Amino acid sequence: MKTKLFELFQKTFESTPILAFAPGRINLIGEHTDYQEGFVFPAAVQFGIWVGIQKNELSYCRLYSLDFEEEFTFDWTSFSPKKGHWSTYVMGFLAQLKQAGYPFKGFDMMIGGDIPVGAGLSSSAALSVSIGTALSSLYDLKLSPISISKYAQNSEHQYAGVHCGIMDPYASAFGKKDQALLLDCRSNQHQEIPVHLGEYSLLLVNSNVKHSLADSAYNQRRAACEESVEILKKFYAGIQTLRDVKVSELEKVQQLLPGSLFPKAKHIISECERVHAAATALQSGDLDSFGKLLNASHQSLSQDYKVSCAELDFLAEKAQDFPGILGARMMGGGFGGCTINLIKTSTVSDFLEKIQQSYPTKFGLNPSFISVEVSEGARIVG
Ligand code: GLA
Repeated sequence: MKTKLFELFQKTFESTPILAFAPGRINLIGEHTDYQEGFVFPAAVQFGIWVGIQKNELSYCRLYSLDFEEEFTFDWTSFSPKKGHWSTYVMGFLAQLKQAGYPFKGFDMMIGGDIPVGAGLSSSAALSVSIGTALSSLYDLKLSPISISKYAQNSEHQYAGVHCGIMDPYASAFGKKDQALLLDCRSNQHQEIPVHLGEYSLLLVNSNVKHSLADSAYNQRRAACEESVEILKKFYAGIQTLRDVKVSELEKVQQLLPGSLFPKAKHIISECERVHAAATALQSGDLDSFGKLLNASHQSLSQDYKVSCAELDFLAEKAQDFPGILGARMMGGGFGGCTINLIKTSTVSDFLEKIQQSYPTKFGLNPSFISVEVSEGARIVG
């Protein structure tokens, strides 16, 4: 992809590009906790988005997407990002830089990637982070990885309408080879924890379910947490988010929360505890305990937080029953996308066969399998 993009850029725009790369991410554990300033445990993967960029002397920017085989031009003095088009991520990032007072002029940009589509590996965060890395280098803006992450998160809020947390762009921007990031989403600081899995590997199974209501359900979950916090504040004055509450404290005031809010709040709080336990387990090489925490996370996401679906539940259950797998759970926002599985590498082909035999018959969908490697974060690659 890198070479292809480089050569096509030179041919199309008749100049030599700077090349930026930003990866997609997995999340080992800690789901839906980032927007409550909780803890998450993501890592960057080997797939990502490449952005080629170079200045032009024109009054407009020329963009080209390899994936969509489509070009797009806009006047850099006056433009408005439109929801739903890939160019939004470029214009959205640029609009924020412009607002922050950074100068820029016309440029040419080419975008290409190899992140499996719809798998929940955060291709849009990778796209924004790659755009930010490229722009920062082209104009020598010296944007820090955390500002790039925040601009990327804000693009999702403003131009895609998803009120996501910081996890995805953060993992893309800060990822390290063979290290997972134990990230505190309040201080936006992380600790690197080595991912040494010995005879085990991380395997994603893509349900290939695309739930059209996923974005609105995501925003509803976030709103439900905020509602719980407002109620809990009456009892625990010092709290800012659910991150500040313990499960035992929540249980004491269970009757204050409407029936649908209590299990959701419980998920956030218990998931943060699982993140810490999982980091400790991984650090000490206790993969059995790590796997059990993955299973418990799935149970909580499915039963309490209600962001799973029949297909993900099926894939997680089949995996959890499989002898070579230590733990499995849905990964990401939910309602579709992948499960993440900690599997003994020598049993992968048996497991694939088992899923291929059962999943399509039950759901009329073909699963796909993605083997992931914990990889380096965003950078200039050429
Ligand atoms: C999506 C969001 C993240 C995070 C996860 C769930 O990937 O973009 O911010 O909330 O869902 O953990």
